Amino acid sequence: MTPYAPLSVDPATAVLHYAQEIFEGMKAYRHADGSVWTFRPEENAARMVRSARRLALPELPVEDFIASVDALVRADQRWVPEPAGEKSLYIRPFMFASEVFLGVRPSQHVTYMVIASPAGAYFAKGVHPVSIWLSEDYTRAGRGGMGAAKTGGNYASSLVAQQEATVQGCDQVVFLDVQEGRYVEELGGMNMYFVFADGRVVTPETGTILEGITRSAIIELAGKMGHQVEERKVSIDEWRDGVADGRITEVFACGTAAVVTPVGSLKWDGGQVAGTGGDTGGELTMAIRRELVDIQFGRADDTFGWMHRVV
Ligand SMILES: Cc1ncc(COP(=O)(O)O)c(C=O)c1O
Repeated sequence: MTPYAPLSVDPATAVLHYAQEIFEGMKAYRHADGSVWTFRPEENAARMVRSARRLALPELPVEDFIASVDALVRADQRWVPEPAGEKSLYIRPFMFASEVFLGVRPSQHVTYMVIASPAGAYFAKGVHPVSIWLSEDYTRAGRGGMGAAKTGGNYASSLVAQQEATVQGCDQVVFLDVQEGRYVEELGGMNMYFVFADGRVVTPETGTILEGITRSAIIELAGKMGHQVEERKVSIDEWRDGVADGRITEVFACGTAAVVTPVGSLKWDGGQVAGTGGDTGGELTMAIRRELVDIQFGRADDTFGWMHRVV
């Protein structure tokens, strides 16, 4: 444990040139009794191991990952905000190629670190739907690529598409699959969900997308709420037509940052469809959101055993 401080890096540090880097994103939540908890940290640890495999980095044992996060949260416990307003301590574990070497091969020296910062609520003025720009010129990841890994390169490649979304007046960008340019993958930093009029809840299958920890929690939660949950391909036409003809009643996105956010309008080069769920999000979207937030902040029973007490 050392005080937060700048790193001094040699200009030939491998990560600066070849992007051999992985990271995680998670939060610590303060409960009303003052205790501090993380949400499914073993899932972040397991994902970091999978990312490490893909990026030819060493696999940090799950227990070491959790111990490192716990140690930092304990040291920084006074930085964990009071529970009001969905505030939390954001935690960023990361590992990078720190060998001073120019040449394309796995680094023989790597650095693993964990940093943290208090984080405000994603929606400072209450939950509202995000508008989506459909990226048709850029893709995020192909088969055999790095889509399932949490690595900086995936985010670097998404930035120009996000810029395009902003120019188009949209909040977020959605990516389609590489092969056919037809199937919905995910947003720049969130997974997608579709709620059908018959109660089915559908999310794009994994493979080329990030296996979100919120996404997998919602699979369990929606199942427990009595919904049939499907992980399968969802085409952009199914989204467009489904919203237009009422077969799809709610669209939402999920991730550590926003937990669950209603998805509003979808815009592409040449058209757009309005969102579902009005200005405040659909009924199931908001029920899932409430339940997850209540579990994270200790206001609902943790029947899935997702919470890990740190302080
Ligand atoms: C590209 C991408 N997809 C999905 C997610 C959601 O993952 P999680 O629920 O683990 O935060 C994230 C991270 O927040 C992400 O960066």
